[in-house]
Formats: sequence, structure tokens, C-alpha cells
Amino acid sequence: MRIFLIGYMGSGKSTVGKRLAQKMNLTFFDLDPLIEKRTGKTIPVIFLDYGENAFRRIEKETLSEILQADNYVLSTGGGTPCFFDNLEQMNLAGTSFYLKMDAGMLAHRLFYSKTERPLLAGKSREELFDFIKQNLAEREVFYSQAKHSINGAEFQVKEILRLLNNS
Ligand code: S3P
Repeated sequence: MRIFLIGYMGSGKSTVGKRLAQKMNLTFFDLDPLIEKRTGKTIPVIFLDYGENAFRRIEKETLSEILQADNYVLSTGGGTPCFFDNLEQMNLAGTSFYLKMDAGMLAHRLFYSKTERPLLAGKSREELFDFIKQNLAEREVFYSQAKHSINGAEFQVKEILRLLNNS
């Protein structure tokens, strides 16, 4: 069984992924740390040294490798399903869940987040909200192709287990 969690930065993919994997007795993978391990560089340094296009290629390669394995929950990066055929590959290999949150909630969570995110760096609170609103609207096209969409930050693990049992 392969479970993929997709959604915007700050939507709780890593937290939910860890809990879900534990409950289901599956391995937990987090794509960003795997990319950092593979390259020996942090995500911000990859963006800085090589640029976003190179990051997306490395992201795709890392995803392709994980797709060879089985029995895991993978928390992807916010942009992962929006590039190349990544989402199609995930949907072919397993079950995808979109952790859905509105721009206001995301902006609030991301404003206080300590994780460095190159796409959001240096933005004021207002700029952050405007950027997220626009970017989320563009990405919804991809996110909404997940097999299931889960709302909000709470009860997500329970809801995912319920949906898996019903399908
Ligand atoms: C990105 C999201 C990040 C990371 C990179 C780009 C994006 O992951 O992959 O900074 O394009 O949305 P998180 O969603 O875990 O923050």
C-alpha cells in the first residue's frame, strides 16, 4: 500500500503523515528531507545554488525512486504534484489525499512557521497572503485531482483511515 499526502506548504502533510504511518504500521517518508539527503544540501541552498527548475528535476527523481518501494506513507512537498507527471504517477501507484486548507489559515500558519521556504522568503504578512491566494488557486487544478480531499487541520488521520476502509 502506498499513501501520498499532497497539499500546500504548511498544510500539515508531515505531521499527519507521521501519525498516519504510525497508526497503519507503514513506513513514513518525507520528500523534502529525502531530497536533502540525496543532494547533501538544504532545500533553500538547492534553490539558491541551482534554481527552482533544477530542484523540480531532483524532486522528480527522488519521487521516482520512492515509487519503486511499497508500504509507506509519503508526505510530498507543496509543489510536487504540480510538476511533470508526478501526480499521475502517484495516482497510478497508490492513494492520494489532498490536505485542504484555505489561504487565510495557510498564511497564518506559514507566517509563524520556522521552516525556511524559498518561495515565501522575505514576504510581509500581507504579501504572504496575496501570494498564497494566487498560487493556491493555480495549484488547486492539480491538488483537486487527488483521490480524496480532506478539510482543515483536525481529525485528518481519522478521516483518512475511514476513507481507506470504505474504498
Ligand atoms: C515547495 C514546498 C516545500 C519544498 C520547497 C517548495 C512548494 O515543501 O518542497 O520549498 O513549491 O510548495 P513543504 O510543502 O513541505 O513546505
